[in-house]
Amino acid sequence: MPIIFNKKQQVFHLKNEKVSYIIGIEKNRYLSHLYFGAPLTSYHRVNQAYLVERSFAPYFDPQDKNYATGTMLLENSTNGGGDYRVANYQIRNEAGQNFADFHYDSYKIYDGKKKIEGLPSIQGDKITSLEITLVEKNQQLEMILVYNLMEDLGVITRHTIFKNYSQNKVYLENAGSCLIDFPDSQYDFLHLYGSHASEAHPERFPLHRGIQEVNSLRGASSHQHHPFAALLKPETTEFSGEVFAFHFIYSGNFIIQAEVDQYETTRLQMGIHPDTFEWQLNPEETFETPEAVLNYSNEGLNGMSQNFHQLYLHYLSPKFWENKRRPVLLNTWEGNYFNFTEEELLQQSQVVKKAGIELFVLDDGWFGKRDSDHSSLGDWKSHKKKFSEGIIPFAKKINEEGLKFGLWFEPEMISPESELAKNHPDWAFHLKNETQYQSRNQWVLDLSRTDVQDYLIEMLRYYLSSGAIQYIKWDMNRHLSQVGNEIMPPLQQKELAHRHILGLYRILDTITTEFPEVLFENCSGGGGRFDPGMMAYMAQNWTSDNSDGPSRTFIQGGYSYLYPPVMMGAHVSAVPNHQLGRSASLATRSHIAFFGNFGYELDLSKLTPEEMEQVKKDVAFYQKHRELFQFGTFHRLENSWQGNSCAWLIQNEKEAMILYFNLLASPHRPLHYLKTKYLFNDALYENQETKEVFSGSELNQAGLLVSPYSQDFVTKIFHFKKV
Ligand code: DGJ
Repeated sequence: MPIIFNKKQQVFHLKNEKVSYIIGIEKNRYLSHLYFGAPLTSYHRVNQAYLVERSFAPYFDPQDKNYATGTMLLENSTNGGGDYRVANYQIRNEAGQNFADFHYDSYKIYDGKKKIEGLPSIQGDKITSLEITLVEKNQQLEMILVYNLMEDLGVITRHTIFKNYSQNKVYLENAGSCLIDFPDSQYDFLHLYGSHASEAHPERFPLHRGIQEVNSLRGASSHQHHPFAALLKPETTEFSGEVFAFHFIYSGNFIIQAEVDQYETTRLQMGIHPDTFEWQLNPEETFETPEAVLNYSNEGLNGMSQNFHQLYLHYLSPKFWENKRRPVLLNTWEGNYFNFTEEELLQQSQVVKKAGIELFVLDDGWFGKRDSDHSSLGDWKSHKKKFSEGIIPFAKKINEEGLKFGLWFEPEMISPESELAKNHPDWAFHLKNETQYQSRNQWVLDLSRTDVQDYLIEMLRYYLSSGAIQYIKWDMNRHLSQVGNEIMPPLQQKELAHRHILGLYRILDTITTEFPEVLFENCSGGGGRFDPGMMAYMAQNWTSDNSDGPSRTFIQGGYSYLYPPVMMGAHVSAVPNHQLGRSASLATRSHIAFFGNFGYELDLSKLTPEEMEQVKKDVAFYQKHRELFQFGTFHRLENSWQGNSCAWLIQNEKEAMILYFNLLASPHRPLHYLKTKYLFNDALYENQETKEVFSGSELNQAGLLVSPYSQDFVTKIFHFKKV
């Protein structure tokens, strides 16, 4: 059993070959955090923190002044009893008091892992679980800390369950998922920040005293801050050193905080953002928080990424798509925007077919009167002027040409100029007598309502049961504001933001369970909701609305900290690029897109015959090596944000592809050796272009000489096969 309870030591030890995580029971009352790091054979409290009386620290027992929660290294915060650091929970009772003192009660260890009610979670066979129950005797409340250990990865997941056994209501003002106290503060904080069309930029800085946090209050996980943070030892690099990473399986408002206190300890806390949350917990009711992923690696950031990639591919992402090859696609958006006719699309689809592309995705503009982004969201009926016979007959025509068909939806939204808004003015979030703010000319449907959820489920079911749609792009293009309705009682209005996400998950769960073979692509103006919560339902994500190849080395590179290439949509688009005006070569655009889920997003019929020939070759090349590109092991070798180049390696047992990208040309062109680091040292590899043979160890350690380039934004693909 990889989780053991040592009765004598009063410790729980979660342990596999990659990680140990140790929790102590202190005097049968509070839980201490004792260790998180490289695996230990066994543990005997060697590093037990010395409990000492500290000034200004409240204690519960005057005979035992050293036992004060405010100065201990804890596994969970306490509430109102003198632990002044950031809290993982806060409970108000009907008397308006904020003191809830949970004590250790019991534990359970079992094989497997339970689902979290209404929320996406890690699932799989090779998991062992621990539940530690804490009890608040006076108020008859229970808090269960749930831990799950993956057998083969340096990963533990955590979440919290609150139960109310009393006859009274209580209010969860804060219900966090994970809290852990580190004994020191010598760490760098790493997180991913960004904006629309510029997602996932890593920022790393040494922890400072006080609180540093990333969060979202936008109703979605957001482009601005990813629900991820890691603590790194200062010496940690991409290739070596310790990483303690935290990622949240949730798509709504979140907070991740690291607090360095007066004694130089560091508290890490993660959960739903309490500013836009409260939950009325009635007698006999239970509340489960979303799940937190805790990832430990002593092999640097690439080691951390390997843990995340394996976890999300095999324990989170839809099972049907786990090992299924993804089709090469053409998306109509940048090639047409809203301006197209059925005839034009049919002509384009013929060119698409000739290029060897397999899936034709019709993006925005096919429904209602949707000729711009000013109307029709919610009116999910074919645009009559564009599709005289309707969208399903059109989809069938595409299928008959031998192409799969994909369709765009933005189900969570409603245009003020729509039939749906006229018929159901109360279905959008709104505050009584207040202006409903718009963004991209739209409002947000209130998915906390089951009637709205059911409407969307029925609508999607109608389209998918036609059998003519093999792919859905699920978009979401604005954040929440004026979150309110007239249904929830005033004291429960703060539940709406979370209930909205639960409603979204119910829709996704229902539809993806009914139609598992349909490939769903998650999107929120690109990566605005590219989080593990959404990835539990959708096998891939449109990575960014910025389709410029060179920019994608930053964006895909940033997201590669967390997700493997097969989860990231990457399309070749036209030049000059529509977002940046940059004109990278076709080779550069294709090479960078190979390291994602490959596709095109332009009108192919506007290409020159030479370009079209190249497109055919590129599609065929990707298809030939699809298994490697989509399911190989990915490593970052060089990062655009750290120098003048980017290099990525993807490999399997037989072969490897390496992307080298030169950002800007330089006049002095220093020699540049690209060290592949992760090839099999003892193997011999043949360069498929030059037929030269090198050992893995020389490629890894001495490195490939990458030509000093005299042009900006040049790429080269190296293809090595084991001999
Ligand atoms: C935002 C998406 O990110 C784009 O790819 C495109 O689908 C547009 N929405 C359509 O409105």
